[in-house]
Amino acid sequence: MACSNLVKLNATSSSWIGQQSFGQRSAAPLGSPARRVSVVRAGSYADELVQTAKSIASPGRGILAIDESSATCGKRLASIGLDNTETNRQAYRQLLLTTPGLGEYISGSILFEETLYQSTTDGKKFVDCLRDENIVPGIKVDKGLVPLPGSNNESWCQGLDGLASRSAEYYSQGARFAKWRTVVSIPCGPSALAVKEAAWGLARYAAISQDNGLVPIVEPEILLDGDHSIERTREVAELVWAEVFHYLAENNVLYEGILLKPSMVTPGADHKEKASPETIAQYTLTVLKRRVPPAVPGIMFLSGGQSEMEATLNLNAMNQSPNPWHVSFSYARALQNSVLKAWQGRPEKAEAGQKALLARAKANSMAQLGRYSAEGESDDAKKGMFVKGYTY
Ligand code: 13P
Repeated sequence: MACSNLVKLNATSSSWIGQQSFGQRSAAPLGSPARRVSVVRAGSYADELVQTAKSIASPGRGILAIDESSATCGKRLASIGLDNTETNRQAYRQLLLTTPGLGEYISGSILFEETLYQSTTDGKKFVDCLRDENIVPGIKVDKGLVPLPGSNNESWCQGLDGLASRSAEYYSQGARFAKWRTVVSIPCGPSALAVKEAAWGLARYAAISQDNGLVPIVEPEILLDGDHSIERTREVAELVWAEVFHYLAENNVLYEGILLKPSMVTPGADHKEKASPETIAQYTLTVLKRRVPPAVPGIMFLSGGQSEMEATLNLNAMNQSPNPWHVSFSYARALQNSVLKAWQGRPEKAEAGQKALLARAKANSMAQLGRYSAEGESDDAKKGMFVKGYTY
């Protein structure tokens, strides 16, 4: 690749874009170095990336996110009185990943690094358990959030250093997609600096992932924390998603080979009024249609602390009429809560845990198809799981 085609990081984005759009599109002949700058590329993996993304965004299926760091997995285990040991984390993940028939509703599963290299107690690699169910293995690659100096108490997401070699290694272990979660806080502003940093980091990560054969899940989570209205969330979502797609384009990311994992547009968790699933769907889809090109194959929502039932109802409301993209789920809390309660860490209840997972996965599969009914949902499924300042 010729260096003259690379964007200079110290150029301001507006001056670079100005040069690109006016210089290239109007005057540069096809094939000239200047013209080639705007060509979207994903290296030698382009076809595979498109196939992987399509397979994850397939009808009636979504993502099971179990990529909690060991510390966060420990919180899940503590909720049922288990110690945070590698054996207990393996037992929990084994229960989830060996659920018979899971592939009917689940198309991908995001793993934490420990799980990618782990096997069942019988010695079968977790990656192979997933493949046997036609579920694509994925990997969390970000290194978590740290304070962003110069901002209004906001954070930024680490993990770009060494990402190319880590991604290549994860690919060789069987991962075919990646996840990078960064957050934007409404009560803290959000500041222009924090939004720009979040979007730029996501775009750099996406380009590096594609270069190494991993479909990047682009996850700019707008936190539920705050007492703001749904209108305020809509404004922030519009801004954040615009910035994210601006930098994805600037980094020549192949849109057909990514998945977007946004939060739904809802009022803040402490807002005085709740919004109905229909209102949430209408606000969310309006902004997504304004900001997300139809070349993106899938919108895979996070649950963000909503109750299992709320997350499923909201997804169902979004699928009442055709969308330009596959609109589905990539839930962690909203798929795991019932499982933990049914399992309780007792081997004789592992099957009950798997039944609970299948029930939640099926409910969300129905919601992806717009055919979910909340009739008969348990009280547990209705309980919110929002935690202020939640970390992964
Ligand atoms: P929640 O569905 O619990 O918000 O998790 C989302 C996530 O990013 C996990 O990968």
